[in-house]
Amino acid sequence: MKFVISSFLIACAISTSVAASDLRSSVVREAAIEAGLVPSSATRPKTDPDLVSVGKLAFEATELSAGQNIACATCHRDRFGSADGIPNAVGIGGDGAGDIRVASGGRTVPRNTLPFWGVGGIGYDTFFWDGKVSGRGDDLISQFGAHALSSDPLVVAAMIPPVEVDEMVGDIGHLTTETVGSATFIYNQLVEQLAADPDIADAALRAFGTSAKDLKFENYAEAIAEFIRFNFAVQDTRFHEFVFGKGKLTEDELNGGLIFYGKGRCSMCHNGPYFSDFNFHSIPSPSASFGKNGFGIDYGRFNVTNDPNDRGKFRTPPLFNVLRTAPYGHSGAYSEVSDIILAHSDPLAVLNFQELSSPQRQDVYQQLRHWLEEPVSQSALTLKELDQLISFLATLEFDSKREVRSP
Ligand code: HEC
Ligand code: HEC
Repeated sequence: MKFVISSFLIACAISTSVAASDLRSSVVREAAIEAGLVPSSATRPKTDPDLVSVGKLAFEATELSAGQNIACATCHRDRFGSADGIPNAVGIGGDGAGDIRVASGGRTVPRNTLPFWGVGGIGYDTFFWDGKVSGRGDDLISQFGAHALSSDPLVVAAMIPPVEVDEMVGDIGHLTTETVGSATFIYNQLVEQLAADPDIADAALRAFGTSAKDLKFENYAEAIAEFIRFNFAVQDTRFHEFVFGKGKLTEDELNGGLIFYGKGRCSMCHNGPYFSDFNFHSIPSPSASFGKNGFGIDYGRFNVTNDPNDRGKFRTPPLFNVLRTAPYGHSGAYSEVSDIILAHSDPLAVLNFQELSSPQRQDVYQQLRHWLEEPVSQSALTLKELDQLISFLATLEFDSKREVRSP
């Protein structure tokens, strides 16, 4: 198992503080490489600048929604680290950002908005909290089944929000259900709306060599995917510079790294180039609102596989820029990063069961059952260690390429 980089070495390293700083640095460096960290350049795919330009305009355009009132950039905002800063996204009918948006009375999308850091980079192949779109090798899995219009999972993922009723559609006539037929109808309307915008039409002609109104929706989705890949591509963080270059970490950051790869067992799941195994695990976290499955419940991965063993499991989230993307967890139930970290090893210390409804408690009991099988359930952390882990997470930051304009 990846995390078992000699626990013995780590114990020695922590105990002999001053003289062993070099030893501790090399332990963390080796552990990071062992756990799959690669230089940032090895995660970045080549992107086409003309396609990126169309994608950026489409990403920011309200013409991408049936009622021309919401854009991708409404929920994926720079100010909140490419997410929206609220526990559950607010879609159609919502106004403004942050707390104002929560109070605006729009439709709740019962999941926490995911940020874009590294999304769609090399090896980033499983999307959404429940992994409902994934592509490994030739196998593309999505709700479109055999009707998927691309073999690139990020393109398919980008085609979903514009046809989700609560997210970007609303009630337009009879189109209140999410079917392949209504999706096609909506896509055709969106292409017309986008083509009517002169800036988008110009950029599309340059990128595709075809008049904008002759394009298909999947062409715009390809462009949006290209923009996400380009704009949020992993850049060298301070941690990359430490592992692969001459960068140094402070004492607290170094200690945090030792806990991350050692005692805390974080890297058993948060591993690989993006600090995610792209697998599904149970970390107890109640739904902050109605829940994907109603009544404050979210079955998570079970919704995709129907396997009872997957109930309450969610994709390990990547950790780049994680300190900028509060609140945390699939339901946004934790507003502080320290709370969600503590919830991994001692959930009863942070959950207020009195405040939950009875079905929500049932849901958490199910999660606890699977959680007990996760090794992280046996790693108790002190408050000081928690702080050091947070110092470590602060070394995983980098900036996006271009400013995103939100409506
Ligand atoms: C109403 C707010 C909202 C809007 C508008 C929105 N998103 Fe999202 N986005 C979310 C939420 C919430 C999630 C997490 C959903 C889940 O996992 O079930 C998400 C997740 C994603 C992901 C998955 C990221 C990952 O790491 O797996 C992608 C890709 C994405 N959105 C792209 C887009 C694109 C492209 C648009 C515009 C076409 C868009 N989003 C519009 C709220 C929104
Ligand atoms: C057993 C696998 C596993 C281990 C080990 C693990 N995590 Fe997680 N982590 C997850 C999963 C799954 C989630 C999402 C839980 C949810 O939303 O239901 C998560 C969520 C998080 C989040 C919130 C991210 C976000 O965007 O919402 C942070 C921060 C985090 N983990 C840090 C850590 C740290 C630090 C450790 C070590 C103490 C650790 N994790 C160990 C699987 C794991």
